[in-house]
Amino acid sequence: MTGFFRLTGRLLRLLDPETAHALTIRALKLGLAPRPATPRAPVLKTSVFGLDFPNPVGIAAGFDKNAEVPDAMLRLGFGFAETGTVTPLPQAGNPRPRIFRLTEDAAVINRLGFNNQGLDVYKARLAARRARPGIVGANIGANKDSADRISDYLKCFEALAGLADYFTINVSSPNTPGLRGLQDRDQVQLLLAKLLAARARLRITAPLLLKIAPDLDGQALRDVVAVCLDTGIEGMIVSNTTLGGRENLHGKHRMEQGGLSGRPLFAPSTRMLREVSRLAGGKLVLIGTGGIASGADAYTKIRAGASLVQLYTAMAFAGPYLAVTIAQELADMLQRDGFTSVSQAVGADA
Ligand SMILES: Cc1cc2nc3c(=O)[nH]c(=O)nc-3n(C[C@H](O)[C@H](O)[C@H](O)COP(=O)(O)O)c2cc1C
Repeated sequence: MTGFFRLTGRLLRLLDPETAHALTIRALKLGLAPRPATPRAPVLKTSVFGLDFPNPVGIAAGFDKNAEVPDAMLRLGFGFAETGTVTPLPQAGNPRPRIFRLTEDAAVINRLGFNNQGLDVYKARLAARRARPGIVGANIGANKDSADRISDYLKCFEALAGLADYFTINVSSPNTPGLRGLQDRDQVQLLLAKLLAARARLRITAPLLLKIAPDLDGQALRDVVAVCLDTGIEGMIVSNTTLGGRENLHGKHRMEQGGLSGRPLFAPSTRMLREVSRLAGGKLVLIGTGGIASGADAYTKIRAGASLVQLYTAMAFAGPYLAVTIAQELADMLQRDGFTSVSQAVGADA
């Protein structure tokens, strides 16, 4: 059976990436992927902002934009699943083709532009699964044509209150013109203050995380971390895709417009994670995202300051069982170095 799915994976990689992705989601919805043994080594268990994770390896936002398959991703061995980015209104995104595989570089460039079915459909799906176990996050965004983007985040947050275990505020997609401007000090301050006020009003406690771009320069990064600390949100995700990093690429699509993810993003996003960890001084929960393809990569992010990690692009190359492999490798490395839990290793290299 596993051999069959390996073969299917190879065939999928011959298709246009977006078609392959749509087929994968359909197969997962139908429950076609056989269930691997979920990594449950005690050393992998971790408790972060009041939630108990079976392992710290999550599926990053963008794989399941419409919250169609969070439970299937958990069954594939991921310790948590982030769905979205969702926007209030359905949105078609940019014209195709808009996802490009750079196989030689183990990378992807995408300029999807928040294509998604909109908040109503997304909300109904999360509501339908709410009683099930497993940690599912909601990644929220704004419509491209919105006259008031901050109120788009609020609409999503208010509608989804009680339906997600945590919320990611995505102000770092490079494919919605102007969106990254919300990372500016005053804008992000306003956005986070409004979300925190809404959270208090709604009497919910779901953690809020800000997801940032790896392209922020030194002062902008210091500002955004300071605002996260001042407002008192729980954490940050470092990072989204990059607009840089094209110099050393080899794939024929290397000059396509969009955000670069996968192996070339590993070093810059880990450098930024280390810097954010230093600036936050242990007061923010950090999720390390960008270019993770192995247990060693996940371990490096954890030692750089991440309490949890996420991946997407490497799975497009290595197939759906990557989470299990990474979690097992990570468990071996933690034990080899004498750690009895993930949390002991967080920031060990800081
Ligand atoms: C095709 C694609 C779509 C993505 N869509 C989203 C999205 O909707 N929201 C978001 O916050 N990040 C999105 N991302 C970024 C990922 O969540 C992640 O931050 C980034 O790809 C780095 O991780 P990776 O190198 O493991 O892929 C997307 C990435 C890819 C490759």
